[in-house]
Amino acid sequence: MNVDNYKLRAAEIAVNLIHSGMIVGLGSGSTASLALQILARKLNDGKLEQILGIPSSLAIEQHAKQLGIPLINLEEHPVIDITIDGADEVDEDLNLIKGGGGALLREKIIAQASRREIIIVDQSKLSEVLGTQWPVPIEVLPFGWGSQAKYLESLGGCWKLRKNLDGSSYLTDQGNLILDCDFGLIKKPRELSNQLADRAGIIEHGLFIELASDLIVVGKDGCRHITSSSLKSKKSV
Ligand code: A5P
Repeated sequence: MNVDNYKLRAAEIAVNLIHSGMIVGLGSGSTASLALQILARKLNDGKLEQILGIPSSLAIEQHAKQLGIPLINLEEHPVIDITIDGADEVDEDLNLIKGGGGALLREKIIAQASRREIIIVDQSKLSEVLGTQWPVPIEVLPFGWGSQAKYLESLGGCWKLRKNLDGSSYLTDQGNLILDCDFGLIKKPRELSNQLADRAGIIEHGLFIELASDLIVVGKDGCRHITSSSLKSKKSV
């Protein structure tokens, strides 16, 4: 099996956790898109009914519409039953780095509104410590962004303004910029998350701390389904 098959398997396992009548958060990225396709197939086959999706990006909204998935918004349905999303990097406590595709703000809003946040990844995304493989995407308001860049440096970060292939600045769905910031190994992700959240002009950052309820990881050693509650009970033993 290759990485694409691992992603597909993880997506299949996650979609099996969806029941008819649920409000479903639709994550962004290639792995979450696979889940979207499986969900659409199940709706078409009548294996699932009365599903309403809430998309986490304009791109996934368009994709969901093309697949005929009925959509709704958080204003009408502020609580989501289950969300399926991918991640760029995952540590042993199910903390995540997200935002490789730029959708971190809406993804985090959806994760915080979800009763169950299922993260699906292939094995290559696992790290002992966050920051091993990926910088942290940080969404900043264009106004005064240079000042936020200085702030990131004061926290020990080394940032890069995200660009499109044509060299123009990448803009998020909200029209903001992204600074991809390398903090080295992030030994205290909660502390860094708080420091980033404290700063005006930083709209959101890609550290998702204690937001995932389930991690489904597939790789050459097979599938693992880890839940945050099983981790907590292990720690308290
Ligand atoms: C989107 O902004 C991201 O958070 C994605 O969920 C993340 O980058 C994972 O994407 P892939 O499934 O494409 O690796």
